[in-house]
Amino acid sequence: MMERDRIRVGRLPGERSREVAEFLSSMEADRWIAEADILVDIAHLLMLRRQDLVEKDTARAVMQVLLDLYDHGIPREAFDDQFEDIHAGIEAYLIGRTGEERGGRLHTGRSRNDEVATCIRIRLRNELSGLMGELILLRETLLDLAARNEATVMPGFTHLQHAQPTTLAHYLAAYEEAFARDFERFQATFGRVNRSPLGAGAFASSGLPIDREMTARLLGFTDVAGNTMDAVASRDTLLEALADACILMITVSRLCEELVLWSSPLVRFIELNDAYCSTSSIMPQKKNPDTAEIMRAKTGTVCGALAGALMIVKSLPMSYNRDLQEATPHLWRGMDACRRSVRLLNGLISTASFCKKRMEEEAGKGYSTATDLADFFVREYHLPFRTAHTIVGRAVREGSLDLDTLERVAREVASLSLVEQGLTPERIEQVLTPRSAVMARNAVGGPSPVAMRAALKERRRTHRRDDAWHQRITEALTTAEADLIVSAREMIA
Ligand code: ARG
Repeated sequence: MMERDRIRVGRLPGERSREVAEFLSSMEADRWIAEADILVDIAHLLMLRRQDLVEKDTARAVMQVLLDLYDHGIPREAFDDQFEDIHAGIEAYLIGRTGEERGGRLHTGRSRNDEVATCIRIRLRNELSGLMGELILLRETLLDLAARNEATVMPGFTHLQHAQPTTLAHYLAAYEEAFARDFERFQATFGRVNRSPLGAGAFASSGLPIDREMTARLLGFTDVAGNTMDAVASRDTLLEALADACILMITVSRLCEELVLWSSPLVRFIELNDAYCSTSSIMPQKKNPDTAEIMRAKTGTVCGALAGALMIVKSLPMSYNRDLQEATPHLWRGMDACRRSVRLLNGLISTASFCKKRMEEEAGKGYSTATDLADFFVREYHLPFRTAHTIVGRAVREGSLDLDTLERVAREVASLSLVEQGLTPERIEQVLTPRSAVMARNAVGGPSPVAMRAALKERRRTHRRDDAWHQRITEALTTAEADLIVSAREMIA
C-alpha cells in the first residue's frame, strides 16, 4: 500500500489543494534524479549502519526495498505529484513497504537539501561524461576528415568575402581545436561537480555521528563539498556546466550557420545527407538543411536555460531556498539539448560530402592571392610591405593584376619599376596560383600541408589524451556504482 506524503503530517496536517501541491512539486523534473536518489539512499543507509545509527534488521529490511527499486525500477506511484518531490515519494514508498518503524529511519541525519544537491551532482556527472564522450567522437570525425583533406584547397573568408586560400583540413581542424577547448572546460567543471554535499543536512550538518567521507567515497565522489552551508546553498557548478554548454553551442551554431550557407545552391561546398534534411510541403524541389537550423536554434534554448538558472540563483540569501528547485529543470533541458546537438552534428558532418571541385574553383576568386603577390614583392624586391600593399591594391582597383597594370601603378604610386626588378607574367601567374599560395603558408598552425600534418599529429595526441581521461572517469563512475551495489547486497546476504 502506498503511503501519503509523510513529511507534512506533524506540522502542516491540513488539506492542500491539488493546484498548490502541483505548483510546489518538482516531481516532473525529478525523473532526472530518481535513480541517483536510490544510490544516495543506499550510500546513506550503509553509512547509518556503519555508524550504528540504525539497527541491523532495520537496515537490512530497508536495503532490501532499495535494491528492489535499483533492480526493477521505481514504481509509478512514487512519482505521484501529491509529493513535493521524488525524495518524499521514495520515502513514502519505503514506509509503505517496511513500516514507519523501519522506513522512517532512513532520513536520520540528512535533509532533502543535501539529498537533492547530491542527486543533482550525481546525474550531472553522468550528463557531463556523456557530453564529453560525444565531443570526443565529433573531434575524431573532424580530425579524420582533416587528414584526408590536407591538400584540398578552398577559399578562406573574412567578412564572408574571399580573403586568402586555405585548405579544408585547416578549416576542419580550426573547429576541432575550438571543441577541444570546450572539452577542457567541461573537464574542469567535472572536477568541481565531483564533490559530495551529502551529510550537509539542512545546511548545518548533523549532531549525529554521521560520516561524510564514507558516503562521498561510496558514491564515487573524489571529495566532500566542504562547508555544509555552501554545499546546500550553491548551484554555481550547475551554472558553470550550463555556461560551458552555452559556449560550446555558440561554436556549434557558427558551424551550423556555415553548413546552411555551404549547402545552399548559391555556394554548393557541401552536400548534406538526405537523412538530415527536410523537404517542402509545397515546393517539391526543396532539400532544406533543417537539422543544422534546429541545432542553430538549440543554441538559444541552451543559452536561455543558463539565463533562467542565473536569474533564479541571483539574490538568494544563505542557505537553501526553495527557488533553487526551479533552477534544476533548466540544467537538464540545457544539457540535454547540448548533448543531442553535438551527437547529431557528428552524424551530420560525417555523412556529408564535400564538393572539393567547387571549393578549388572558388579558391582563387576575388583576388584571394593578392596578399601573396605583395609578400612576393617584399621577399624578392625588398619593398616595404606597405608599398607593396599599395601597388597591389591600386592594381586591383584598376581591375587587373597583369604585368602592365602592376608596372604602371608601381611607377605612379611608388616611382619604381617592377619590370626592372625582373617581374614577368610567368612569375605573377605562379605567385597568384591558390595552390602555391597555400603551400607557402608554413608557419606553425598555418594551412600548408606540411604545417598541417605536424599540427594534426599534435591534435591526435591531445585527442588520445582526452579520450583516455574520459574513459578513466567513466570507468571510475561505473566501478563506484558497482561497488556500492556490492556493499548493499552484502548487507542483506
Ligand atoms: N525538491 C527540492 C529541490 O529540488 C528539494 C527539497 C528541499 N525542500 C525544502 N523544502 N527544503 O530543491
